[in-house]
Amino acid sequence: MPTLVLFGGGGDLALRMLLPSLYFLEHDDLLPEGLTVIAAARSEDSRDAYLASVREWVQPRAEADGQWSAKAFDRLSKRIDYLAMDATDPDSLTALRDRAGTEDLTYFLAVSPSLYAPIVNALKAIGMTGAMTRIVLEKPVGRDLKTFREIDQAVAAAFTEDRVFRIDHYLGKETVQNLMALRFANVIFEPLWNNLSIDHVQITVGETTGVGDRWPYYDEYGALRDMLQNHMLQLLCLVAMEPPSDMDPDSVRNEKVKVLRSLRPITKAAAKKVTVRGQYTPGSVENQPVKGYEQERGQASDTDTFVALRADIDNWRWAGVPFFMRTGKRMPDKRTEIVIQFKPVPHSIFDGDGRGDIVANRMVIALQPDEDVSLSVMNKAPGLDAKMRLQPIRMSLSWGMEGKSGRPPRRRIAYERLLLDALNGDSTLFVRRDEAEKAWEWVDGVSAAWRAAEMKPEPMRREPGGRRAPSI
Ligand code: BG6
Repeated sequence: MPTLVLFGGGGDLALRMLLPSLYFLEHDDLLPEGLTVIAAARSEDSRDAYLASVREWVQPRAEADGQWSAKAFDRLSKRIDYLAMDATDPDSLTALRDRAGTEDLTYFLAVSPSLYAPIVNALKAIGMTGAMTRIVLEKPVGRDLKTFREIDQAVAAAFTEDRVFRIDHYLGKETVQNLMALRFANVIFEPLWNNLSIDHVQITVGETTGVGDRWPYYDEYGALRDMLQNHMLQLLCLVAMEPPSDMDPDSVRNEKVKVLRSLRPITKAAAKKVTVRGQYTPGSVENQPVKGYEQERGQASDTDTFVALRADIDNWRWAGVPFFMRTGKRMPDKRTEIVIQFKPVPHSIFDGDGRGDIVANRMVIALQPDEDVSLSVMNKAPGLDAKMRLQPIRMSLSWGMEGKSGRPPRRRIAYERLLLDALNGDSTLFVRRDEAEKAWEWVDGVSAAWRAAEMKPEPMRREPGGRRAPSI
């Protein structure tokens, strides 16, 4: 019978994301038959106390989605076992082995990355990493290429690559997967998807929240390592990759790696021209005063909470097309989107100056807060004007509106898809070793360029009704 072992079962990621995901999967009858979940955590809680805290997290979320069912929660509870343990201690692991056996096991490491190697080594030592086991690693795996490799060495000594699932939860988002459907299940976009028709691409992940009490983690990483190395480069890969020959996990990931290999390194000389580092300062959100990053941190810090950069992909398809990426905490809006900006028409027949009022086509793939795909196209404005008037209209390609009920389907937690895939052994939506390596290599280059160019984060002021963000 399959078993999911959740290391860090009492932690923030488990309670906020993983257990609610398991609940929704249970609710929809999607969990593998006979699945047992062992929540392994340090605190000496009883199983009942643990289940009570799981319910505190799950119920409000499910109710908000109109999906609460006490019966479904009860079914999930029956699957859950709680084990108070230190995951690197041989006695604790013996207790785990007694309960879980050594086969058909999926480990999910929802713990600090500094524990990845020690836990993997301990599991290996006790004989719990046989061919019928898998491991799921939450990002960030390492904080640079060197530390990634150190962790990876331990992981590779215990698990073959096909049994390693490196999570980037952005790949579990519906809209992100839809990017592949849009590109490769339609004939109308792909012929235009290159430097002949596309002017530039923008990838934006703006968050209104600050870092808050996550600073002990965040201060070591900053926006570059926390968001850009993983989520944003993954989005870039999905926009820029060549069509894979099929949906085999390796076919897809081979194409993504090629994109990462083609990223032009950012040098010291280019750093000031093509990158911006920022850090938020005190201000107010919805008329409430909020702290700046350094006030949250309690001391001065050179950590970036905002990063914007221009990436260039040096290959035939994308030569000369900038990919502008920007991400930040405490931005005025929560907005995650990919904008494909097409070039203007080469010549306008609608007036004398060659361009007229024609607005170039633009495709917006919105991930958050709303999920939508839209395409702006020029249209004739209705009327009998002597000279034809034009107007841009926005065509929404949103698939959500087509649900049978006429309402968009429930927005799934990205981890639902990823947990299910990991349990079923499908690694298409997970990051392969060489992808992670290439992404770290490029990002290490950016931070080396910042150091060499002595670029510190610029203070960014957050003011009611507006904000100044550095731009490139
Ligand atoms: C996480 C980062 O990976 O992604 C967080 O560590 C960030 O800092 C989060 O807030 C954003 O995820 P989402 O799905 O809300 O865009």
